[in-house]
Amino acid sequence: MKIGVFSTKSYDRVFLAAANKDHGHEFVFFEVRITPETVSLAKGFPAICIFVNDQLDASMLDTIAQHGTRLVALRCAGFNNVDLAAAKRYGVTVVRVPAYSPHSVAEHTVGLLLTLNRKIHRAFARVREGNFALDGLLGFDIHGQSVGIIGTGRIGAEVAKIMYGFGCHLLAHDIRRNPECEKIGVRYTSLSELYAQSDIITLHCPLTPDTYHLIDYRALDQMKPGVVLINTSRGALIDTQAVIKGLKSEKIGYLGLDVYEEEADLFFEDLSDKVIQDDVFARLLTFPNVVITGHQAFFTKNALQKIAETTVGNITEFERDGVCKNEVRVEKVTG
Ligand code: NAI
Repeated sequence: MKIGVFSTKSYDRVFLAAANKDHGHEFVFFEVRITPETVSLAKGFPAICIFVNDQLDASMLDTIAQHGTRLVALRCAGFNNVDLAAAKRYGVTVVRVPAYSPHSVAEHTVGLLLTLNRKIHRAFARVREGNFALDGLLGFDIHGQSVGIIGTGRIGAEVAKIMYGFGCHLLAHDIRRNPECEKIGVRYTSLSELYAQSDIITLHCPLTPDTYHLIDYRALDQMKPGVVLINTSRGALIDTQAVIKGLKSEKIGYLGLDVYEEEADLFFEDLSDKVIQDDVFARLLTFPNVVITGHQAFFTKNALQKIAETTVGNITEFERDGVCKNEVRVEKVTG
């Protein structure tokens, strides 16, 4: 099959080419995101392959369907960036990589937590300057803390297991319980109780209409003063303005982000010699107790290999059978 690959980085080419060895698809790589300005590049491709910040709304799906595209292969787990109802309407099948390495994201989540708590980001800069003073670097033991996990699917469950190893009390909120988590003593609670009891809150639910701005002013009001908040899921789970207010009032003690609601214009590009135009993001960068990474939680070689293999497998299955087990259907959106 001939596939137009959007938002391509050098590492995507390497892993997709390796995974394609025994499949024989023809990949054409585009560095640009798919947008109304670049959508014409998709013309003539029966399949396109996109990433997290490629937005396919109804009008874009209409266009690609008219151009002959029948398959959209997401090389990620989340699918909030595609209008699934419109895809169905225009006869475009959407497939994704439901699980590649929950460990990659879970381990990065804990990395952000440890960096914030032990101020490793500040210590690194100090030591390079020859400053070995410890003032300002005081942390706390994670052992014995209460950790609230919102969303205990594949990634949330891995976070639970790691935090269990640290000796934490584990609380969780999900629309369905995960027996694997219950087995290690995770206690499911209401969101309000989780907010009130947790020293550390970490988000692992998908972005849906129900979870949009889950962490808003009201949610923050219910949290403990000095709470640690980590988001490695999707940016729009957090109302960034509310969180900035929470940081200024010191309600939030630490904030770790791998995702940001307006990340599409920032992340995955080298903008180091440009002026950041997003004032909200720029404000976040000024806090000493905020650590942001640019959507890299998934970025391990294990994950990239699995993403590429599943993506190529999805395309082959669709080409052969006209259906694919990893199809994202409209009824799954809120699940
Ligand atoms: P999953 O589908 O295995 O788990 C998601 C869990 O969230 C499920 O247990 C589901 O019941 C729960 N959930 C759904 N709606 C909810 C609600 N309203 N309230 C509470 N819980 C709810 O997904 P997985 O693989 O664990 O991924 C979680 C999220 O992580 C993805 O949706 C994606 O947005 C994000 N992600 C981020 C990456 C990164 O590089 N930063 C990489 C991969 C995924």
